[in-house]
Amino acid sequence: MKKKKIVFSAIQPTGLPTIGNYIGALSQWKKLQKKYFCIYCIADLHALTIYQKKYILNKNILDTLSICLACGINPKKNIIFIQSHVPQHSQLNWILNCFTNFGKLNRMNQFKEKKNLNQNINVGLFNYPVLMAADILLYKTNKVPIGRDQIQHIELVRNIAHKFNNIYGDIFNIPEKKLNNYGSCITSLLNPVKKMSKSDPNKNNIISLFDNDIIIRKKISNAITDSDFPPNIQYNLYKKPGISNLISILSNITGDSIKQVELNFINKNYNNLKESVIYNLCIFLKNLRKRYDFYRRDEVYLKNIMINGAKKAKKNAKITLKSVYDVLGLNF
Ligand code: TYM
Repeated sequence: MKKKKIVFSAIQPTGLPTIGNYIGALSQWKKLQKKYFCIYCIADLHALTIYQKKYILNKNILDTLSICLACGINPKKNIIFIQSHVPQHSQLNWILNCFTNFGKLNRMNQFKEKKNLNQNINVGLFNYPVLMAADILLYKTNKVPIGRDQIQHIELVRNIAHKFNNIYGDIFNIPEKKLNNYGSCITSLLNPVKKMSKSDPNKNNIISLFDNDIIIRKKISNAITDSDFPPNIQYNLYKKPGISNLISILSNITGDSIKQVELNFINKNYNNLKESVIYNLCIFLKNLRKRYDFYRRDEVYLKNIMINGAKKAKKNAKITLKSVYDVLGLNF
């Protein structure tokens, strides 16, 4: 039987994911399980680049794991694990630091943005993409489902892998990014040219997976559209970013194509579009939260998933790390 190709991706346990995290990443994670062997990771070490309170991080890890399960990740057929439980990530990280060009790392847009926003500009924040490289390269990954904000990081990962392979032979697979065509960047509700981000201090910009019906109605009703007259419900990211964002959310939640959504709203107004987004989001999130509650209340089950996931991930990670140590002359 042909061996399945490998998918790897991760999410940080830094609070309640948004509908952007779901559409850009988690919804792809679920779909890819049909065709690929999938390895998904809760990136708690990446989360440490921002100061974390012990109990909150601990709770966020369990919350995020439960969300992944509620989104349809199957831990029996695939692997889901916590990054810090597999020490090979940190070990490979150090080695890859020594193959990463300082200037390239210094040009990472996310670092530049975070540097401007953050009081706590630590080396971990700078190193963040190299730890991503370790995450991905440890598992001989073929595809990495991510949102658009992570494209530059994946390019750097490919660059690091090429550099290492050029010196030591074909140790790493060169991974490819996988984007959700019409959902790779769900944008802020009040500023639709900016990414919707769970760390946004203005919560009116984001739909959290835990927003209730009343909050969803308030936020979507206030979402920025445009002043076209007559109203024109068409997907055009550059001319109509607010409307395109709402179309994108609706299409991804209902499974209707972008074209179909446009057809459904010919001769309708923006209010009709918003009502449909509200209706479908409320149903979708209510069902998601029901599944989340089911998993979240059973911590013994969650801890077993973590233990088994780490065991399976380690088995794979050790093989790659050994071949890296071998070619570097670190094994005796
Ligand atoms: P995190 O937790 O910040 O984001 C998780 C995933 O959600 C995507 N995403 C979005 N997609 C579309 N629209 C949005 N508004 C939106 N906001 C977030 C992100 O692109 C991401 O795919 N650095 C990663 C975590 C990570 C990782 C890895 C990913 C650590 N190691 C290795 C891939 C491979 C991150 O951004 O997490």
